Amino acid sequence: MSVHDIVYEIPEPLQSGTYVNDTQYNELYRRSLDDGDSFWEEMAREYIHWNKEWHTVSKWDYVKGEIEWFAGAELNVSYNCIDRHLAVRADKTALIWEGNEPGDVQTFTYRELHARVCKAANVLQSLGVTKGDRVALYLPMVPELTFFMLACARIGAIHSVIFAGFSAESLRDRVLDASCKVLITADEGLRGSKTIPLKAIADEAVRQCPCIETVLVVQRTNGNIDLEQGRDVLAGPLMEQASPECEPVSCSSEDPLFILYTSGSTGKPKGVLHTQGGYLLYTTVTHKYVFDYREDDVYFCAADIGWITGHSYIVYGPLSNGATTVMFESTPMYPDAGRYWDVCERHKVNIFYTAPTALRSIEKHGDDFPAQYDLSALRVLGSVGEPINVDAWEWYFKVVGREQCSLVDTWWQTETGGILLTPLPGATRLKPGSATRPFFGIEPCLIDDNGQEVADAVGKGRLFMKRSWPGQMRTVYGDHDRFVQTYFSEQPGYYFSGDAAERDSDGYYWVRGRVDDVVNVSGHRLGTAEIESAIDSSPAVVEAAVVGAPHDIKGTALFAFCVPAVEDMTDEEMQNSVKEAVRKEIGAFAIPDTIRFSSSLPRTRSGKIMRRILRKIAAGDTRDLGDVSTLADASIIQELLSA
Ligand code: WTA
Repeated sequence: MSVHDIVYEIPEPLQSGTYVNDTQYNELYRRSLDDGDSFWEEMAREYIHWNKEWHTVSKWDYVKGEIEWFAGAELNVSYNCIDRHLAVRADKTALIWEGNEPGDVQTFTYRELHARVCKAANVLQSLGVTKGDRVALYLPMVPELTFFMLACARIGAIHSVIFAGFSAESLRDRVLDASCKVLITADEGLRGSKTIPLKAIADEAVRQCPCIETVLVVQRTNGNIDLEQGRDVLAGPLMEQASPECEPVSCSSEDPLFILYTSGSTGKPKGVLHTQGGYLLYTTVTHKYVFDYREDDVYFCAADIGWITGHSYIVYGPLSNGATTVMFESTPMYPDAGRYWDVCERHKVNIFYTAPTALRSIEKHGDDFPAQYDLSALRVLGSVGEPINVDAWEWYFKVVGREQCSLVDTWWQTETGGILLTPLPGATRLKPGSATRPFFGIEPCLIDDNGQEVADAVGKGRLFMKRSWPGQMRTVYGDHDRFVQTYFSEQPGYYFSGDAAERDSDGYYWVRGRVDDVVNVSGHRLGTAEIESAIDSSPAVVEAAVVGAPHDIKGTALFAFCVPAVEDMTDEEMQNSVKEAVRKEIGAFAIPDTIRFSSSLPRTRSGKIMRRILRKIAAGDTRDLGDVSTLADASIIQELLSA
């Protein structure tokens, strides 16, 4: 029996009463392709409040990379996420914030969220931020992060959230790339037993960012910080004084909403740009259908808002649906491996969404942790960010979900804005490891090595999308050529995902991972080229090649092959120098698990590093290295193997 044959029926509690069953899925899916514009138009009317209607539902040109949804329409995203709920659910909890220490909780009703976001918007305006300005958010998972994102949306400013694990250098590059006017940070961040000196890191970055006029500081720990006169301001007192009312600015559907940097195959991160109307509609509709979200649900996505999952499925999708969304500041292991389940029990969570890497790290600590908590409120479990192995899937489904919950393995990307491949709880029989079928309006296809579309039902190839969907990114900020080059040049007319996939006889997709030099380490997306250029900055190294290797918990581990620059350093000194370089240039989360030094790297005669061989060595799969006849110097293989 192959893994394609392991099938789980829809769990009993979801066999009826969900938004769509299998027949309805098939009908709706057909309609969404046959009559895409009318399908999305209907959705747009039902799920979004528009100030002005569109003249054209969709228009795209994949040659020029020009994409528009609901052109001519106007809306305000923060109005949709807050104000429109006030008439019906003002006293409903919008946000549950669970702090680093268990039970350190703050809740905000929609009315309170409205007041906070308006205050934050007024603070931004008082600092001179207006429509179209870029605001950098370098914050831990504190409620202010959500407030300021929505505040930007309220006044039409463009936010750029930078994950709080990035170093000063990475922060600086991102702030400069978007020439942000204001940077919002915190005194310190707390994650488990660690304290991260965010303000000090931000100071180092901002010193080299002439575009920054103001640094706004949220006090999380009341830790000691330096405030630079004329530049730095504490957010607390300003928020207190600010008015709790702020008129939302009407924005065009295609005005930018945010920039989020992500790694690609080159050293420079891409500023993925998402716009307003299409993105909000797509996250709203996917959040509702994929999780079969109900009005009274408590919804907990354990991602960090520093990545796309947090943008789309902690903030925008859930709040647009009027949901109660949980924001979690801590880690799955703090104070122990039961933390997620403790949060789920205390807040009576119905829908829980996390990454395989977190599940694998908890699973290692045994079944006792989930067993200690009352998880009976859970109805839908979600997985995102990397392929989920059968083991972790079955543990999640059986031990956490007691076989009573659907498990939606959702495949998507920073670029796609929202979920593209996924089961729907009441419609899809589940196969562990498969993200199953396309969401409405999504038309995937596989292209083989000869550039031909796989016409048979069953097959494998690189994964492309044939048509546009509302949540698609619109450009790489400041580099439209790169946008066209990266996503639309591989196969003219199609969007290239960068992933390889298989399709089985049920039409289910099995995403196998990246075909480019992007790796997913513990749910963090990294480009190997970025890490190589960080390592190159170490005085100990002349050149480096980084590859991914399979890892039980992280999914992929980083393996760095380095050539030493000097002869008088010990291996330990060189290792430390490499680690320090990566910590400084990117952040500690990108430090390779293994760093190996050798006198050179395997290259072809034309000078290209043979990564295929390095990947095999890193994976410990050295019995058959494949064709090595094009190697310029075969002796390097022996050296690498005997290390
Ligand atoms: C991978 C995260 C298999 C994939 C939302 C993709 C997955 C990259 C899955 C995007 C999944 C994401 N199964 N692989 N369910 N979800 N991926 O931009 O390689 O951080 O291209 O977006 O993660 O990572 P990103």
